[in-house]
Amino acid sequence: MSNIDSYEERYSNFDWKISAEELEYGKNGMYNIGFYCSDRIVEKGFGDRTALIWQGFKGDVKEFTYNDIRIYSNVVAKFLIDKGVKSGDRVCIFMDRIPELYISFVGILKMGGITQPLFSAFGEEALFTRLEDAKTKAVITTKKHAGKIRRIRDRLPALEKVIIVDVEEQALKPGEISFNMEKSTPVENFEIEKVGPEVPSVLHYTSGTTGKPKGALHVHSSIIAQYITAKWVLDITSGDIYWCTADPGWVTGTSYGIIGPWACGVTQTVLDSGFNTEKWYQFIEKHKITVWYTAPTAIRLLMKDGTSAVQKYDLSCLRHLISVGEPLNAEGVIWSEQAFGKPFHDSYWQTETGSIVITNYPGMKVKPGSMGKPFPGITATVLDQKTFGPITTPGKVGLIALKPGWPSMFRAYWENKEMYDSKFKNGWYICGDRSSIDSEGYFWFVGRDDDVINTGGHLVGPFEIESALLEHEAVAESAAVGKPDAVNMEVVKAFVALKPGYEANADLELSIMNFIRKKLSPLAMPQEIEFVESLPKTRSGKIMRRLLRAKEWGQEIGDTSTLEND
Ligand code: PRX
Repeated sequence: MSNIDSYEERYSNFDWKISAEELEYGKNGMYNIGFYCSDRIVEKGFGDRTALIWQGFKGDVKEFTYNDIRIYSNVVAKFLIDKGVKSGDRVCIFMDRIPELYISFVGILKMGGITQPLFSAFGEEALFTRLEDAKTKAVITTKKHAGKIRRIRDRLPALEKVIIVDVEEQALKPGEISFNMEKSTPVENFEIEKVGPEVPSVLHYTSGTTGKPKGALHVHSSIIAQYITAKWVLDITSGDIYWCTADPGWVTGTSYGIIGPWACGVTQTVLDSGFNTEKWYQFIEKHKITVWYTAPTAIRLLMKDGTSAVQKYDLSCLRHLISVGEPLNAEGVIWSEQAFGKPFHDSYWQTETGSIVITNYPGMKVKPGSMGKPFPGITATVLDQKTFGPITTPGKVGLIALKPGWPSMFRAYWENKEMYDSKFKNGWYICGDRSSIDSEGYFWFVGRDDDVINTGGHLVGPFEIESALLEHEAVAESAAVGKPDAVNMEVVKAFVALKPGYEANADLELSIMNFIRKKLSPLAMPQEIEFVESLPKTRSGKIMRRLLRAKEWGQEIGDTSTLEND
């Protein structure tokens, strides 16, 4: 079964109302995403359907029906209210991909809180920056990650509640609360907070070129876009077994790892373990996964193990494959046709867009290497970099831009209006990426228009890395740039000038790498450090990252006078 219909037909006759009506969005004054991801599916008579099949890294499996999700999310919501968390408070979820993560997400929304999921591999500095900025009131975590919170808690006056889901009372440190979702008294009836459609729901931190990470703020009515894109682009139907490989610390793991699939009432699977080719194929075979949403880096890793690894398993269950997060090379599409008998369909979007905006729509001709065309309801173009006027010449590169107004567009960067406003020009939202459009309307991604590093589909901000580097005792100044990598597309490379008295050697390189890994995350850790006497700067003293980056990519450096004025 599939939802495929003609792209052209849907594009020309589209109205977001189609989605809102299917969802019955707003019926009885209900706009809360939490309702649409659990209670509504139960009300429709599918309470016994499996909502979540979870598999841990040891292979242990747990299953939850939609009715379980409804009741446990009620338990979470009531618990938070009992502990004094109020509607509008930011509640961070900081844990590995265990069932409590997914269910807490729904529970926080149900009580009117703003969920702030953070990647559990974040080190304490990365965590601190984001909790401080959001003035987060409560964190829900596990004992494995509680230590990082303990070490920064005294610097976070707004953080009132630290809730740990897997410890007994006696193991708590002062000021911590223990909470066991499954052992708590079931909450059959919970009065879901009657939020309006424009009330904030999810706060996702994302990295930019300058300054600290920014919190992209979404609202409850984003579900209108997440639901219909999950249905039409991921092509999930209620009979599917769906697997989104993304961690909910990133937007893919919430828009299409929680909200979209559960609003569609599909059975979704979660594998709480890192990448491993055999494990992944086993997982698909075991749970008979039909729709698979993953990222190009994973596809490249699978490619390395070849089609022979695929042939050991019966993966005939797979019906539709979609990719996100980084450019999907033509080779990946062609290989997947050989390996799985179907192409990966690219989908392009961002934390800020909240839902897929450009895609190889199911049923549409896939041009390997192209991202496809705008989703119905999305007006997308490329703009001239100087005039911000639309480029009409096919093949000419410009800035990807979208007409504001789709339901899941971010409504703010948390307490950073200036940065938010700077993303809009001439009535367009500027994505910060470059692309061309061919004569048939297909978008061909070229690259980012800033210095943000995309490693394995995850954005890391150079500023955050450079700030952390400066805290290392040996570092006088530094620059972080992306360098090409065969698997991860880019990895972080740092250029470091040392303070007097420090000697550049392999031990120091390792010490700096580990320092960043612990402080920020394994993703932000430089894979290479080049020690330099000094860094190239503009006349005003700004480090010329672009020049360093261009060298790494073997690109023409061109006229440095323009770089100097950057
Ligand atoms: O540069 C683009 C790249 O990832 C950025 C968005 O990253 P983030 O906000 O973390 O969200 C990632 C998941 C939606 C974009 O600005 N990107 C995302 N999808 C693609 C892509 N680059 C090329 N092709 C894609 N399909």
